[in-house]
Amino acid sequence: MAILEIYTFPDQILRKKAETVTVFDQELERTVQSMLETMYVSSGIGLAAIQAGILKQIIVIDLKSGEEDKSLREPHVFINPKIVTQSGTTVSEEGCLSVIDFRGEIQRAEKITVEYQDVTGEIQKMEAEEMMSICLQHEIDHLNGVLFIDHLPLLKQKMVKKRLKKLAKVEA
Ligand code: NI
Repeated sequence: MAILEIYTFPDQILRKKAETVTVFDQELERTVQSMLETMYVSSGIGLAAIQAGILKQIIVIDLKSGEEDKSLREPHVFINPKIVTQSGTTVSEEGCLSVIDFRGEIQRAEKITVEYQDVTGEIQKMEAEEMMSICLQHEIDHLNGVLFIDHLPLLKQKMVKKRLKKLAKVEA
């Protein structure tokens, strides 16, 4: 297991498309474990492999990531996830480990059904709503090179991106 480096906006790696996972082996399991560990130390509730520079369709989510008691954790792993149905709309505040110093209100589908593979390659299905639905949509976006700030109204989006680019330069 290793703690992975997380790439942040405006790094161009975050704009790449992740590839389908076809081999379900020990290396995949190690990658998943490292992603979970990285998510926990970063206090995030979700992480897509692409955020760590791994161009594979792998997502980890744990809505209980913030629990002090580790036995309460609920890690979920989604390989090659696809949204197969969606309904309704909901607006909530989002943040991202790859977007430092900004949170914003984003509109998403309210309920979704996701088909994915587990770490053994077995096909699974999940009906998600509320936080799980929002988090899944956010992470699946990452696999397609999309960030949550891309969903902001255009004017606000321009402003936010300009400010974040400036901030990144100062930190570099
Ligand atoms: Ni994110």
